[in-house]
Amino acid sequence: MKKYLLSIESTCDETAAAVIDEDRQILSSVVSSQIDLHEKYGGVVPEIAARAHLDRILPVINDALQQSGVSLRDLNAVAVATQPGLVGSLLVGVTAAKTLAMLLKVPLISIDHIAAHLYACQLDAGEDVFPAVGLVVSGGHTNLYDCKSALNLQLLGSTVDDAAGEAFDKVAQILGLSYPGGPAIEETARNGDSKKFRFPRAFLKEDRLAFSFSGLKTAVLYQTNGQPGAHKQPPELTPQRVADLAASFQQAVVDVLVEKCKQAIQRVSYETLCIGGGVAANSLLRAELDLMCKQQGIRLIIAPMKYCTDNAAMGAIAWEKYEAKDFCGLDLDPTPGLVRAR
Ligand code: KG4
Ligand code: ZN
Repeated sequence: MKKYLLSIESTCDETAAAVIDEDRQILSSVVSSQIDLHEKYGGVVPEIAARAHLDRILPVINDALQQSGVSLRDLNAVAVATQPGLVGSLLVGVTAAKTLAMLLKVPLISIDHIAAHLYACQLDAGEDVFPAVGLVVSGGHTNLYDCKSALNLQLLGSTVDDAAGEAFDKVAQILGLSYPGGPAIEETARNGDSKKFRFPRAFLKEDRLAFSFSGLKTAVLYQTNGQPGAHKQPPELTPQRVADLAASFQQAVVDVLVEKCKQAIQRVSYETLCIGGGVAANSLLRAELDLMCKQQGIRLIIAPMKYCTDNAAMGAIAWEKYEAKDFCGLDLDPTPGLVRAR
């Protein structure tokens, strides 16, 4: 008989559940987004996120079960993202998972959200993607890993300040665009000139696997609102200027991400580059990574679009732990801070 697993995700502002069989086939993947609740604040408000998870978690789990045709009593395990994330948000998913695992008397499995973002690359790949260099580029993280296997990730470098997605969200707010900023900037940038502004590209040519996006964000702010103490004010913020700023900002982020991936590949010398996380949905990034990997003779695997932003299907990684009998007790606690994925 086939085995089935319920995966639960509530690390930030998406309440998600998925039913996945032991062959990693996604039988259902339900995501309830809270964008409408957070957009007027231009970012996720942790307290609002936690309360919304509480309202949504049971309906979302129910929908996932119904759509999969798998009933509660057919489940062989319950898995939940336990790190990293917002503590109030994580607690909702973890409590739901613990309760179900206890009632159903099935193993409880903890999922590392970052490792799961990279495992999304495995979902439609049809062949093993690991070992690989992995880049997780999302609202909360910009991390490069040496992925020896799905569960064995060693951090090669990360951002010293903002995550790339966070920079997209903040710059969108500066430019008066909608939330989340990534898709809004991508759309607006289509009408802009990416060479109009020469924005900073931190550490670009340095032999250092690190990222920094806060200087770039400030540079956009100064071009938009003016520099404190400066005599000259910037020109009026016309739609064309917004488009040029968005395009030049996006190009700067993409240039840095692509160059650092290239440096990581040269350092670790794997044949595969995996990219996951919300910013991996960006078409300029996808196109430029494709070009770089072709030039380097590297296999590029980007998470399928529907599994870039937060979802529970990438919790398929829990099968790797199930097979290794790596289970948790009911004393499982969330770990909000960034922990190096094992
Ligand atoms: O992976 P995710 O859903 O959440 C975290 O784990 O952080 O990523 C959300 C982030 C947001 O910052 C959003 O602006 C960004 O991904 N994002 C994009 C695009 N779509 C989403 N950034 C650039 N281009 C996009 N098309
Ligand atoms: Zn995420």
